[in-house]
Amino acid sequence: MTDKYFIHTFGCQMNVHDSEKIAGILSESGLGETDSLNEADVIVLNTCSIREKAEQKFYSELGRLGAAKKNNPGLKIAVAGCIAQQKGSVLFKRFPYVDFVFGPDNIDNLHAWINKRPQSTDHRAQTTALAHNPEYHNKALPVKREGKVRAWVSIMYGCDNFCAYCVVPHTRGRERSRSSKDILDEISTLARQGFREVTLLGQNVNSYGKNLPEKIDFPGLLGMIHDIEGIERIRFVTSHPRDLSEKLIDAMSNLSRICKHLHLPVQAGSDKILSLMNRGYTYKQYKEKIDILRSAVPDIAVTTDIIVGFPGESEKDFQGTISALREIEFDGIFAFKYSIRPGTAAVGLPDHIDEKDKSARLSEALDLQAGITYAKNKALEGKTITVLTEGLSETDKEKLTGRTSSNKIVNFYGDESDIGRLVDIKISEAKQHSLFGTKEAILATNIHE
Ligand code: 5AD
Ligand code: SF4
Repeated sequence: MTDKYFIHTFGCQMNVHDSEKIAGILSESGLGETDSLNEADVIVLNTCSIREKAEQKFYSELGRLGAAKKNNPGLKIAVAGCIAQQKGSVLFKRFPYVDFVFGPDNIDNLHAWINKRPQSTDHRAQTTALAHNPEYHNKALPVKREGKVRAWVSIMYGCDNFCAYCVVPHTRGRERSRSSKDILDEISTLARQGFREVTLLGQNVNSYGKNLPEKIDFPGLLGMIHDIEGIERIRFVTSHPRDLSEKLIDAMSNLSRICKHLHLPVQAGSDKILSLMNRGYTYKQYKEKIDILRSAVPDIAVTTDIIVGFPGESEKDFQGTISALREIEFDGIFAFKYSIRPGTAAVGLPDHIDEKDKSARLSEALDLQAGITYAKNKALEGKTITVLTEGLSETDKEKLTGRTSSNKIVNFYGDESDIGRLVDIKISEAKQHSLFGTKEAILATNIHE
């Protein structure tokens, strides 16, 4: 019987895509996938250390796996991702039943380990793969994709920004861009396989190409992807406000397949806090970029990330963030309580904020935003919007689900043959996190069948 693997992914889209690569390697090595922990012969926990909460979730899950290993001593447990990179072999001390620890730059090492994984339960067989791998971005890894319509494509790895709160440059290393040829080959293959949408992934996609021998920047890359037959929609995350150029705004306004959505993390509305965070822009500069963007690309949806309770954030500073939310009226936000991350610059800052104050600020920001998001959704009632159908709705298998170009989720009654197609939906009901509507037409642009 073939061995089965189970992957538990913690954290962001970057990690979800890394898990697709991990699954790609495991399937290529002849293992089958299972969604039941109890059936698994190999368990991979792909970890995230961006905030303490994500870390705690991983530790409690790994703690529970001790019992699973007792019941099945042949079970192999691997830990991947950012916590693996930071903790390395220290994890073996606390969790002696872990067999393999590998970092985000070493996913390809899983190949060798899985093929000669020790069959014994000998602890001396414990291994790590954590070396900084400057060539990782040039490797072609097999990918087992989760969907059939939308796909993630890494365009760069790592981050050079060193925002004071952020662990990413410490875990994922320096910024490295993939060559445009590798990216275009991957996307052309996806188009041939029937994928209709790509999301380009990187910590700071706007600085794509900075260290490449070829002369290319992010808008240039977008132009080339735009020419790939079959790809109807292009998205990208994440952008850094400082590196958002007018050239990118021009590309967004001229290239019809680039989705009308920009996720642009503002983090805070107070210049004092932005400077302590080492973000490299003021609130005024951020707002100016949004104004230019909104006049160049009407109807564009803008979403953001904010952190509340950063060290030194006074009530007045926090109110700066609140007025930013009121003034900009984002389509949606991700809001986080500041979480202290070992090894980052913010650890050493004075005036850390009480947990109670952080929680109160988080609620205030979320409450305000909930009203803004709902009003924006409500304004779409009665409008007809194009949706790329992704699949059956998770909560109601009678319905289909898809997204607008502006990244809003739309549910509607339709036919399974709509999956992968652009359909026009008349919105009849706005909810807090999604829209509901009725199918009006299947669009003639679905020519790539
Ligand atoms: N505490 C709270 N939020 C954080 N983020 C990153 N690091 C931290 C931290 N230490 C948030 C930022 C970033 C998003 C991915 O996670 O808002 O944009
Ligand atoms: Fe972290 Fe800042 Fe890099 Fe984003 S840009 S990954 S917040 S260091």
